[in-house]
Amino acid sequence: MSREQRKQDHIQEAIQQHHTRSPFDDIHFIHQTLATSTFDQCNLETTFLNQSISAPFLINAMTGGGGEKTTRINQQLAEAARHFRIPMAVGSQMAAIKEKQQEHTYRIIRDVAPDTFFLANLGAEATVEDALRAIDMIDANALQIHFNHIQELAMPEGDRDFSKRVAHLEKIVASSPVPVIAKEVGFGMTQEAVKQLYEVGVHAVDVSGAGGTNFSQIENARRHLPLSFFNNWGIETPTALIEATTLRLPIPLIASGGIASSLDIAKALSLGASVAGMSGLFIKTLQTKGYDALILCMEQIIEDLRYIMTALNVHTIPELKNVPLLIKGETHHWLTERGIDTKAFAQRT
Ligand code: FNR
Repeated sequence: MSREQRKQDHIQEAIQQHHTRSPFDDIHFIHQTLATSTFDQCNLETTFLNQSISAPFLINAMTGGGGEKTTRINQQLAEAARHFRIPMAVGSQMAAIKEKQQEHTYRIIRDVAPDTFFLANLGAEATVEDALRAIDMIDANALQIHFNHIQELAMPEGDRDFSKRVAHLEKIVASSPVPVIAKEVGFGMTQEAVKQLYEVGVHAVDVSGAGGTNFSQIENARRHLPLSFFNNWGIETPTALIEATTLRLPIPLIASGGIASSLDIAKALSLGASVAGMSGLFIKTLQTKGYDALILCMEQIIEDLRYIMTALNVHTIPELKNVPLLIKGETHHWLTERGIDTKAFAQRT
């Protein structure tokens, strides 16, 4: 199968995935009866890697490299990112590094949005030279390096040797002219992994946990003999995020994986994320309902975030980090077994 066809299949498979629950269902905000907040004073403006953005979410890495269909998708996502002044990542640019004629499927974003905060994207198999080309291709403001070994294992034509990935990342960090973000692709990270990434020198981490787009299922759908034991693999997003935030590292964390509503975003920010990243929700909305529906979806998220902030008695995004919340169920069980204190979240004021 060609790389171009694979990129298109990923989108079709991702769109067909349905989720009956949110990975954030175990997180409960504690109601604030004596709130003194005002809806009109809620300000969603925040900073991400020293850039001001108008709302605390980004369009996470998805596509490019699949010919005209993916050019059109990237163009529309970039127009939405420009409209709302939020960041956007492209999908892995290895396709364009291997086949130069795919470059325009990524470059289109800069053509339509000269001033938007764009993130380049490559897998951790990339060399320093690949990374510099990817950044240059879209005049990127930052670079995402993804770690996706479960996806690679489930992919019939995927990599089988992961021995050099951290070493590659270290070299890329040392040579990159823009901040480097290490990310998962929907399987989450432990705090040991996040700590190691920090020591390697990355400028931000996207824990990208389980509970949303499931790349085991996507790749298994393309396999003759599915590796079904990978279908429920991974660490759910809130769990991975809390593992990471309790390290209290001086770098921003991005929460992605199963974020599908303004309530999920508010919970992620309250657990310590600087921004939330969304892929599945945006591609599904764009591909099944069209560009206007995507704009409406983002407008609704922004409006609803204001309602939630007012209910929680806060006016700014940084204030969300101090609201009390309860961690229940399996998330609580996991964190307790891992020696992470969840009471601190419930008792803060
Ligand atoms: C992705 N994702 C992804 N990530 C990455 O770092 N490079 C990539 O090329 C891609 N490609 C890709 C294609 C499609 C169609 C989807 C839906 C997703 C993973 C993505 O950035 C994110 O980490 C996961 O999808 C989890 O977030 P959601 O989809 O649950 O919001």
